[in-house]
Amino acid sequence: MCGIVAAAARREVSEILLEGLRRLEYRGYDSAGMALIDNEHNLQLHKQQGKVCELEKAQKLHPHLGCTGIAHTRWATHGEPSGANAHPHISGQRVALVHNGIIENHAALREELLASGYEFSSATDTEVVVHLLHQALDGGKTLLVALQETVRRLEGAYAIAAVDVEHPDQVVAARKGSPLVIGVGIGENFLASDQLALRQVTDRFIFLEEGDVVEITPSSMQIYDESGVPVERKRTLISEAVEVVDLGGFDHYMLKEIHEQPRALAATYAQAATHPHIDDCFGAGAARVFDRVKAIQIVACGTSFHAGMVARYWLEELAGIPCQVEVASEFRYRKRVTHADSLLVTISQSGETADTLAALRNAAGGEFIASLVVSNVANSSLVRESDLVFLTKAGMEIGVASTKAFTTQLVGLLMLTLALGRRRAMSEEKQQEVVAALQSLPDYVQQTLELNSVIEELSGAFIPKHHALFLGRGIEYPIAMEGALKLKEISYIHAEAYPAGELKHGPLALVDDDMPVVAVAPSDDLLEKLKSNLEEVRSRGGELFVFADQQAGFVSEPRVKVFPMPHCPEVIKPIVYTVALQLLSYHVALQKGTDVDKPRNLAKSVTVE
Ligand code: M6R
Repeated sequence: MCGIVAAAARREVSEILLEGLRRLEYRGYDSAGMALIDNEHNLQLHKQQGKVCELEKAQKLHPHLGCTGIAHTRWATHGEPSGANAHPHISGQRVALVHNGIIENHAALREELLASGYEFSSATDTEVVVHLLHQALDGGKTLLVALQETVRRLEGAYAIAAVDVEHPDQVVAARKGSPLVIGVGIGENFLASDQLALRQVTDRFIFLEEGDVVEITPSSMQIYDESGVPVERKRTLISEAVEVVDLGGFDHYMLKEIHEQPRALAATYAQAATHPHIDDCFGAGAARVFDRVKAIQIVACGTSFHAGMVARYWLEELAGIPCQVEVASEFRYRKRVTHADSLLVTISQSGETADTLAALRNAAGGEFIASLVVSNVANSSLVRESDLVFLTKAGMEIGVASTKAFTTQLVGLLMLTLALGRRRAMSEEKQQEVVAALQSLPDYVQQTLELNSVIEELSGAFIPKHHALFLGRGIEYPIAMEGALKLKEISYIHAEAYPAGELKHGPLALVDDDMPVVAVAPSDDLLEKLKSNLEEVRSRGGELFVFADQQAGFVSEPRVKVFPMPHCPEVIKPIVYTVALQLLSYHVALQKGTDVDKPRNLAKSVTVE
C-alpha cells in the first residue's frame, strides 16, 4: 500500500529517497513520485504511473537534486492510477505533500478550496491537504503551525509529509491512523511510513504516536502531540541486520516463501525451547493474564482471520476455552457483548492492518483483561500497542499472497492453545502429543513440498475454469477458505469455500462439469460424512480434486483426482494441507500468467480501511 520516505540532510538525498521507495515496493503500489527542493529553492518534481524503476529512469534522464525531499509510492484509493493522481501533490509551486490514508471529508474541503480560488489537478482526496497547507502558509504561519492547523481540519486517517520552498531545510509531518517513523541520523533526519525504508541510513528510530506532528531539519527534530504540546518520544535501536531479500533461485517470492516454511515453522516453535516456560513466548506478564482468562476473542483480516478460525477449533476442543472469531472491519463497528475476563487476540502478519489496529484501539478501556497480538513484524503498530506479543519467525514475506506468515501464525496459536490448555482441560498426555506434533511439523511440510510436481500437473485442469468450489469440514473448513482465497487472489479465478455440510443448502446448484470442486479431507470422525458430500458432487457431474490422507481410503477414478497427503498427526493437518493448497494456487496462477507476487489491485500491507 502507499509508502512515504522523506529526508532533511546536508547531502543530496534523491538516491536515498529512491532506495527507500524500492524497499517499500513489495507492499504494492501503482505509481510513484518524488519532490526535492533544489539549491535555488525551487520545487523539482517527478511523478508517474508505474514502478519505481520508471521514476529512476525519469531521474536519470532529468536529474533533480536537493538536500530536502519527499517521495511516495501510491496505491490508488480516490482517483485511478495515473501520473496526475500520483503523489507528491503540489500547491502554487511552493508546497509539496505526500499522504497515506484516506481523508473522509475531502469533498467538503474541495468545495471550500475551489471557492477560495484553488485549482485541482487530480482526483485524489490528498490534494485538498496540500492546498489547505498552502492557504495556511499564505496566511503567514510557519510550516509547522500551518501543518498543525491543516490536520485539525482533516477527518479520516493520514500519515503526511510536506516540504515548502520557503522553509527549504525542513520537512514537516503528521500521523493519525497511519504509521510514521522518524529515522534519526547524524547531521540528517528522515521520515518514513516503515522503518525498513530507512535501514540503509540509520538504525535509530522514533515511532510517532497518534496525533503527533513533527518538524525535522538536518540538525533538529521537534515532536508535538495532538494538542500542540512539545513531547519526547522513545528512541528505539533496531540493531538486527536487515534481512537480505532476494529470490534465492526461485522464480517468485511466493514460491520461495512456500518452500521456506519448514525452516520458518521450526524457528517459530523453537521459541518454546529458548524460553524457560511456554507462557514467556507471549511476553512478560503473560502467565498472569493466562491464569485469569476465561474466554478469547480473535480479530483479524484476510488470511490472518482464517488463522483465527483454525485456532478457534484448537482453543475450544483442546484447551476448553470459549473462543469467538471476527473480521476486524466488522468487529470495530459493532456493539458487542463481551464475555467476562476475555483476552483480545489480534493476528496480523504486517502488524499495520488498519482495521485490525482500529479494532484493538476500539477495544481499549476495560472490555478485555488484556490484548495479545500474533505478528510477524517486531515494532509494528499492533506490536507496540498490545499488552502481550507473540512474534512469528517467518522472516520477511514479500509475496502479497500470505503463505509462511499464515502457517507460522498457526504454530503461534497452537502454542497459545498449549499455554491455556495446561491450565484447563488439557491432559499432560495430550500436551505431549501436541508438542510432538509441532516438532514433527517441518518434516511433514517438507514431504508435502515434495508433491510439487504432482500438484503442478493437476493445476492445468483449472486454467480454463472461471469458478471453483472448496469444501472442508470441521477444522479443515477454514483451510478450504484459505485455499479459495489464495486461488482467487493470485489466479483471479472466482473461488468460494463452504463447509461441506452446507452443500445441499444452496451451492450444489452450481455444480456441473465446469465447476472444479476441491475437497480438503480430514481422516477423523467427519471423513465418512465428507465422503457422502463428495458423492453428491460426483453424481452431478462435478470434477473432484481431493486432498486426502494417504490412509483415508480415497482412490482416484474418472473425474475424481486424489492427492495422497502425508499421514500426519491430526492436530497439525490444517497446516500441512495448507501447503498443498498454496502450491495449487501458485501453479494455476503461473500458468494463467498473472503477476503472482503482486496480484492486481492488492497490497501487502492494508493501511487504509
Ligand atoms: O498483515 P495482515 O496479516 O494483517 O494482513 C491481513 C490481510 O490483508 C492479508 O492476510 C491478505 O488477506 C493476504 N493478501 C492474503 O494472502
